[in-house]
Amino acid sequence: MQQIVINKRDMPYDVNEAMKLLRTNLQFCGKDKKVILITSTLADEGKSTVALNLCRSLAQLGSRVILVDADMRKSVLADRYNRGDRNQPGLSHLLSARSGLEEVLLETDMENLHIILAGRVPPNPAELLSNSRMQKLLEICREEYDYVIVDTPPINLVVDAAIVAPLCDGIVMVVSSGNVPYRMAQSALDQLQATGCPVLGAVLNMVDQKNDKYYYRKGYYRKGYYQKYYGSYYGDYRKRLEKSKRSKK
Ligand SMILES: Nc1ncnc2c1ncn2[C@@H]1O[C@H](COP(=O)(O)OP(=O)(O)OP(=O)(O)O)[C@@H](O)[C@H]1O
Ligand SMILES: [Mg+2]
Repeated sequence: MQQIVINKRDMPYDVNEAMKLLRTNLQFCGKDKKVILITSTLADEGKSTVALNLCRSLAQLGSRVILVDADMRKSVLADRYNRGDRNQPGLSHLLSARSGLEEVLLETDMENLHIILAGRVPPNPAELLSNSRMQKLLEICREEYDYVIVDTPPINLVVDAAIVAPLCDGIVMVVSSGNVPYRMAQSALDQLQATGCPVLGAVLNMVDQKNDKYYYRKGYYRKGYYQKYYGSYYGDYRKRLEKSKRSKK
């Protein structure tokens, strides 16, 4: 099995402490909460960072953990750990039956932590996630691991998280402090609750205790970025959905 290095640097003290708290809160949600979906309202709120650090924190304690990178549209993790080569077998290959589980499962330099990276950007991420192979994958992971952490795209921009949520035991919503309008976050929460999967809680991320205004400014500038990357994907998906509805008529 191929191995990737994710634990080169220790987490900074405050991040480590925050992750321990998140880990403990998760453990207190009950033993039946094993498959955890991580999402947010908008892009860049820190989902992948929180997902990976939570996995590291759980693995440090000896739990067997797998991180499933289900953001097949714009996976930062796949770009980072496959050195930008998205052709390496990953989730999209598995869900489209191009690769088997043993080909996409990666070991890490942490004994208890495995990862499945997103794989190549597929033309139809939402349809792939609705595929029964995704359900099967999570069933296998549930058997093999103590925790399955599923990193997904933002709920307000694409439907992917809402598709995977019913297969999970709980949702953790990452909220970037000062960057998300209240109504948008509320609408994201409503969408998540409508999936029937319990929202276990939220992580307030990127909190700047010294100077809140700076973070407002940063969020404002980043808005173009969110729309640039996810707006078009959403548009594509909507078009495909409409096209498939028309062809069914
Ligand atoms: N608490 C934090 N403090 C400072 N920077 C952070 C924090 N959390 C995440 N970041 C940084 O913010 C950027 C976006 O983080 P990340 O990729 O985890 O977000 P994301 O929500 O997964 O984004 P996307 O929607 O694109 O998948 C990264 O550069 C990351 O290092
Ligand atoms: Mg991400």
